[in-house]
Amino acid sequence: MAYQNLLIEYKDRIAYITINRESKLNALNKATLGELHQAIANAFADEQIGGILITGAGSKAFVAGADIAEFIGVDVAGGREIAREGHTKIFDLIENSSKPVIAAINGFALGGGLELAMACHIRLAADTAKMGLPEVTLGLIPGYGGTQRLTRLVGKGKAMEMIMTGDMVTAAEAHQLGLVNQVTTAENLLPAAEALLQKILSRAPLAIAAAITAINAAGRNDVNGFETEIEEFAKCFGTADFKEGVAAFLQKGKPGFKGE
Ligand code: COA
Repeated sequence: MAYQNLLIEYKDRIAYITINRESKLNALNKATLGELHQAIANAFADEQIGGILITGAGSKAFVAGADIAEFIGVDVAGGREIAREGHTKIFDLIENSSKPVIAAINGFALGGGLELAMACHIRLAADTAKMGLPEVTLGLIPGYGGTQRLTRLVGKGKAMEMIMTGDMVTAAEAHQLGLVNQVTTAENLLPAAEALLQKILSRAPLAIAAAITAINAAGRNDVNGFETEIEEFAKCFGTADFKEGVAAFLQKGKPGFKGE
């Protein structure tokens, strides 16, 4: 598929997805959202790909939000559809994937941009980045999971403050809040994200998938996270990678995981 709004590169088992609408600060219009769904689904289905790294084109923005111009004329039913489709096709898809997804936040991550980063499993930010959920300044609230994921990441009080004021936080503040895992210089952002993802890809893939499932269960009310952990832990014992990992440890060698 040829993409109009994304740059896609596959290298060393990583799919690099760059949102590429620099003149609109990489805002997520309908076309971009559709392409993003396709690119993510393709990377998840591709056995050669171990994980995804998402960033924004240019140095100014990761993603400055959903495309506000497309909100004109949307009614209540339309708003519901925008949110539900976004949740299913992109944000939940990323969060619940069996492959690790890292956001490299290279500039403004606002509204749907911060929601995209929060759906990823890990977030790195350039020291120049700014993040916020400014939807109330438009008469809206976050609709792509922001009220839930921000609350889980930074706690209810700070989420209330950030969402009700619409104020941005700096990368340093975001790090302090636990909203991002690491802050680097802008030029070291992609190398740092890549190094972190490569380290994760050197571990047993099925164990990584199990860890994602179990950790995600901690944020859900509809499943018992401890039961999920027991099941995911147990399943690992049925994998060839488990046997490989333990044998390599006992022989003081390096494991060659196959994701089996
Ligand atoms: N949707 C649509 N277009 C957007 C956009 C968005 N979320 N964010 C930025 N753009 C567009 C601007 O309209 C402008 O387009 P133009 O050059 O055709 O006029 C271009 O991107 C550059 O943005 P601009 O506002 O001129 O840059 P700035 O440096 O003055 O301000 C921001 C940067 C990020 C503070 C500002 O663009 C902003 O507040 N964006 C909206 C953020 C937001 O509310 N997001 C939540 C959406 S639900």
